[in-house]
Amino acid sequence: MSDGADEVLYGEHEITFLEELWGDGFLSPGGADEVARAIDGVTLVGKTVVDIGCGSGGATVALVRDHGADRVIGLDVEAPVCARARARVEREDLTDRVEIRLVSPGPLPFDDISVDIVFSKDSIVHISDKETLAVDVFRVLRPGGWFVASDWLIAHDHEPSPEMAAYIAAEALDFGMASPHRYRAALEAAGFADVQLVNRNQWYREVARAELERLTGSERAHFESLIGVEAMNKQIATWTAMVPVLESGEHCPHHIRARRPL
Ligand SMILES: C[S@@+](CC[C@H](N)C(=O)[O-])C[C@H]1O[C@@H](n2cnc3c(N)ncnc32)[C@H](O)[C@@H]1O
Repeated sequence: MSDGADEVLYGEHEITFLEELWGDGFLSPGGADEVARAIDGVTLVGKTVVDIGCGSGGATVALVRDHGADRVIGLDVEAPVCARARARVEREDLTDRVEIRLVSPGPLPFDDISVDIVFSKDSIVHISDKETLAVDVFRVLRPGGWFVASDWLIAHDHEPSPEMAAYIAAEALDFGMASPHRYRAALEAAGFADVQLVNRNQWYREVARAELERLTGSERAHFESLIGVEAMNKQIATWTAMVPVLESGEHCPHHIRARRPL
């Protein structure tokens, strides 16, 4: 429910499927290693971090447990993922350092100049207005603070190719993808400096091919036992549509970072 829809997109079945594929607590690929790669070189120790689109909380918890953030506030717009994330935070005994907030889409619920780092893993794809988001992230960051994200991008600002359009339709997830060019322009126009974008297409195209093999091969029956045959057929159709647009480069996950100047 990215920009205001009522339907829950990440319900129990989707969470179960995605965590089985991508790891406990993760609704996006790469797990804690990919979190570490995205934030490499940015110090979280002692910092207050906001995690936009925290999902079921694997990355949110990793920011404290693995990277020393003092406090993390995970935001998400859907109740089932927030419930999973809160349970994770309790299991990890991190309730004093991690807060999960169910929010409505819209401006970040923080005062100006009140946050050290804004982080996000593969969630801003659901927020189509990158320009307004960039201005809002800049607003809440303290001078010198970093915006650090991974996200799913499209390689250009034209109409998606038929293959890309078919993939986006198969996802049925309210995607509002933007190009690296548009991301950079949005961040620079908002006032950010040191804008860096790193294309992760090569990495994820290999990973996604292996995922499709898992889904269609020896693990298919196991996945079917978790979410049912019909839901599994839909997931396989999505991955089958995704692999070609990763191979063409049109679907290009990126790491993105930018700093609010001092
Ligand atoms: C692909 S999942 C990624 C979750 C998590 N970051 C991870 O890597 O496992 C995308 C998440 O973004 C959330 N989301 C969608 N629109 C949002 C919005 N406008 N603000 C915050 N979160 C949003 C979804 O509910 C979902 O939990």
